[in-house]
Amino acid sequence: MSFGEKLYEGKAKIIYATDDPEVLLTYFKDDATAFNAQKRGQIVDKGKINCAISTELFQRLAAAAIPTHWIDTISDREMRVKALTIIPLEVVVRNLAAGSLCRQTNLPLGQRLDPPLVEFYYKNDDLGDPLLTLDRIHAMALASQEQIATLRRQALKINQLLTDFFMGCGITLVDFKLEFGLDPSQQVILADEISPDTCRLWDQTATDETQRVMDKDRFRQDLGQVEQAYQRVLDRVLAQSPKN
Ligand code: TMP
Repeated sequence: MSFGEKLYEGKAKIIYATDDPEVLLTYFKDDATAFNAQKRGQIVDKGKINCAISTELFQRLAAAAIPTHWIDTISDREMRVKALTIIPLEVVVRNLAAGSLCRQTNLPLGQRLDPPLVEFYYKNDDLGDPLLTLDRIHAMALASQEQIATLRRQALKINQLLTDFFMGCGITLVDFKLEFGLDPSQQVILADEISPDTCRLWDQTATDETQRVMDKDRFRQDLGQVEQAYQRVLDRVLAQSPKN
């Protein structure tokens, strides 16, 4: 498929137009950033791995009646997706305390959160993606109360499906970030990607805290073996695939 006009280049992906205005092409890059792009690097073959993992997970979610932007995957780094109006919110679901939650509270690393937390961050690099309150979302007119309720419901349903799926892979889904958009009929649709870039994934077979990390925290914290960890996630995800 020939690339149309480049519409947007993000930190990990490039979005191109296609001949069809309702369809966009997502290209997965190997570039990795952390801490709002203050740390930059490359993870060899990350684009291919994240494209493959996202493909598998979007298909599973669609089969469970979660509307997603995924149409098909046309090469090892390219996915065709539905053109949506992206809601500028990052929806984070947390099952165990980690990352910014531990930094901003006194919850210890690994503390179970029951029920899971659903948090909304403003998707705005200039402002450093700040944590929002429902009142701030309302004041900023980022989403209606009904849309927020839908985002929360979808995020928790996705959490249940992904937690169960990763459990079958011997992986604990600690937390993850989702993005959603609106289609022309204003339906809320899951967008972006689901990958070790956007999830915290802990290997249940590992014996220590450093070994268990299978996600971008290996890059963020310079733990080494980043590519290998991403590849291990993909291998386990594909081993659960109905096609295998
Ligand atoms: P946090 O603990 O740093 O707030 O991250 C929560 C989850 O969201 C974690 O799984 C990583 C993911 N995440 C992103 O996908 N993109 C981001 O820019 C950030 C900050 C986190």
